[in-house]
Amino acid sequence: MAEDLKINHDASKATKYETLIPQIEALIKGEDNLIANLANIAAAIHETFNNFWTGFYLRQDNMLILGPFQGPVACTRIPVEPIARGVCGAAANQRKTIIVPNVDEFAGHIACASASKSEIVVPLVINSRTELVLDVDSAELNTYDETDQLYLEQIIALIAAQHSMS
Ligand code: SME
Repeated sequence: MAEDLKINHDASKATKYETLIPQIEALIKGEDNLIANLANIAAAIHETFNNFWTGFYLRQDNMLILGPFQGPVACTRIPVEPIARGVCGAAANQRKTIIVPNVDEFAGHIACASASKSEIVVPLVINSRTELVLDVDSAELNTYDETDQLYLEQIIALIAAQHSMS
């Protein structure tokens, strides 16, 4: 049974992640349902950082399909190949994390919500194929940096390990 998430609201971003990651490990340990784990991870990240939107898109053929998320309603399908769309599609297609300080300056950004101003998208790549992406959006400019990349990539690695995707 999950307990309430522990968050130190006054802590630095890195400290918040250091507190969050062991709790995510505990939340998903012993649960083999991917959707259930993605749902709890989206909720835990969202609650810790008060993001505008936090969620997952899951790969199906040449598309990303909307998965568990927290925040406003979002686009359901994002093309990855042959032509990638948006930051999610680009991260999935290029198989690497993309940090966008200002979405208005990212060619092809998908404006699911005009309030979204900056974002980071982290792919889970198995055997050279992106299987899902974690998309975190902010209502402010310049919210995400290498610290978010470092820790969000650790969270993606936890998902891969828990679901034998690595
Ligand atoms: N901003 C994303 C689209 C998804 S939503 O914002 C939830 C993108 O350009 O990939």
